[in-house]
Amino acid sequence: MKRILVTGGAGYIGSHTTLELLDAGYDVVVVDNLSRGHRSAVEPARLREVDILDTPSLVRVMQEKPVDAVIHFAAYIAVGESMQNPGLYFRNNVSGSISLLTAMQEAGVRNIVFSSTAAVYGMPTVVPIPETLPYAPLSVYGETKVMIEKVLAWFGQTHGLRSVCLRYFNASGADPAARTGEDHEPETHLIPLLFRAIETGKPATLFGQDYPTPDGSCIRDYIHVSDLARAHIGAVEWLLKGGESRHFNVGTGAGYSVREVVDAVARVVGKPVPHTWGPRREGDPALLVADSSSLRNELGWVPQDSALDRIVETAWRWYHR
Ligand SMILES: NC(=O)c1ccc[n+]([C@@H]2O[C@H](COP(=O)([O-])OP(=O)(O)OC[C@H]3O[C@@H](n4cnc5c(N)ncnc54)[C@H](O)[C@@H]3O)[C@@H](O)[C@H]2O)c1
Repeated sequence: MKRILVTGGAGYIGSHTTLELLDAGYDVVVVDNLSRGHRSAVEPARLREVDILDTPSLVRVMQEKPVDAVIHFAAYIAVGESMQNPGLYFRNNVSGSISLLTAMQEAGVRNIVFSSTAAVYGMPTVVPIPETLPYAPLSVYGETKVMIEKVLAWFGQTHGLRSVCLRYFNASGADPAARTGEDHEPETHLIPLLFRAIETGKPATLFGQDYPTPDGSCIRDYIHVSDLARAHIGAVEWLLKGGESRHFNVGTGAGYSVREVVDAVARVVGKPVPHTWGPRREGDPALLVADSSSLRNELGWVPQDSALDRIVETAWRWYHR
């Protein structure tokens, strides 16, 4: 049985991917310091409460039993926070990842799937966005991901490390069986913020209704977290079969506007969503939609759960469980 080390497995996407790996017959060990994740999201026997900055402890986890591949989710993820506290983000996301790669080198683990992001493209000049666009991050958060993509390429060149960088668009939804779901603090993602507004009656602030889009609000590519989790299984299989290092966008190629998401939440929950419109947020592109043809053609990945109502239904089932 292949053993996968998942960093950040107590978080949103990591906990879903862990379940998907177990369902697919992999053995999984999770490394998480629980700084932003949830103890309850991981089976206790699988959790190693370790900070990825702690290289010797990572090596020990990798030496408990041989690890075939690492999936590296552990990071801080809030764009606004990264601009207020860049040191925190460079240290955790960049130094933390380098510590992990150093531990992998020491333990002889040669395969890694890395959580990257559409934020590496900044304000894209081509939409749907192909992987070939140059790096142009607009935030410290995006820059930390660019830096690690580059570090991975150098570890590949110098030490034969093989990597798949998955550039996620907007992760959303929850496990259809509500075994785990999205629970961030601070929460910055649209759908859970709309649920909170319904629950508290306090209006959610939405940013910008004068974009050059059909209804004036921003369009984003929402990808169901279970589809995202399955892309990780595909990436692990690719590496274990000897595939070369790659970058893949993970999105559906279909975008939904903020207004369409608000309408879907109202429809699924059966209640109006209290909200107000603020000005545009600096650095927010009008349209962010992935060209995911490489992932589809090369890994045979097909999104199954990413229709908007399915995303909202599963997220709501988890939210009010
Ligand atoms: N959520 C999205 O829409 C999205 C989009 C693009 C990319 N990503 C990337 O996906 C990954 C996972 O995102 P998420 O939404 O699941 O985030 P999350 O905050 O829910 O999960 C991250 C997990 O990493 C852990 N962690 C953070 N720093 C750590 C450290 N130093 N040592 C050990 N554990 C640490 C946290 O405790 C948490 O459990 C991140 O790398 C993020 O940048 C997410």
